[in-house]
Amino acid sequence: MVSEVHRKRVEARKSKLKEELGSVLVGREEIKLEIGCGHGHWLTDFAASQKDDFFFGIDLIGDRVERANRKAERVELDNIAFIKAEASELVELMPDKVAIESVYVLFPDPWPKKRHWKNRLIYPTFLNKLAERSLQGCRLYFRTDHEEYFDWALHTLESVESWQLVEGAAWPFERETVFQAKAESYQSLVAQRC
Ligand SMILES: C[S@@+](CC[C@H](N)C(=O)[O-])C[C@H]1O[C@@H](n2cnc3c(N)ncnc32)[C@H](O)[C@@H]1O
Repeated sequence: MVSEVHRKRVEARKSKLKEELGSVLVGREEIKLEIGCGHGHWLTDFAASQKDDFFFGIDLIGDRVERANRKAERVELDNIAFIKAEASELVELMPDKVAIESVYVLFPDPWPKKRHWKNRLIYPTFLNKLAERSLQGCRLYFRTDHEEYFDWALHTLESVESWQLVEGAAWPFERETVFQAKAESYQSLVAQRC
C-alpha cells in the first residue's frame, strides 16, 4: 500500500515537472545547465555576461529556486530560468528538442559514506544518462572542496565511455559560489562528451 502511494506521488511529481519543463524550455534547443544551483548567484552572473545563450538552473530545494528566480527577475534577464527538479528526473523528462550544451556541477553534496555514493551526481549511471541528452562535445565542469569526491570523480570520469577528461581546459566563468566562499581550497575537473 505504501509503495502504491509512493508510486503515485512520484508519477504526479514527474508529470508536473514534464509540463513545467515543456513550458519553461519552449522554443529552446540548447541549454547551459547548472545542477544544484542553490540560490543561483553564479549562474545569474554568468547569464548576464553571455546574453546570447540560454542558462538553466535546477535544485532540489524549492526556496533556493524561488530566490534564484527573484534574483534573475531583479536584474531583468530573459536568458535564464530556474526550476525545482532532481537531476535524473530532469534528464529523463526534458523535451526531446532540447540538448545540453554545457553542464556545471559546483560544490555538489559529497555523500561521504560509502553506502551513499550511489547518490553522487558524478556516478556512472547518471553520467551516461546525462551524456545521452548532451550535444557531442558538451563540456562538464565539476568543482569540489571534498578531496575524496574529487578523486572519485577523476576515477569515474576516466572509467566511463560517455565522457573524456580534458586537460588544462579553461574555467568558463569565475565568480565565487556560496559554498566556494566557505571552502579552504577546491579542485576542478573538465570533461567532454564523447
Ligand atoms: C552543497 S550545495 C552547493 C550549491 C551551489 N552550487 C554552491 O556552490 O554554492 C548542493 C546543492 O545541490 C542540490 N542538489 C543535491 N542533489 C541534487 C540533485 N540530485 N538534483 C538537483 N539538485 C541537487 C542541493 O539541494 C544543494 O542546493
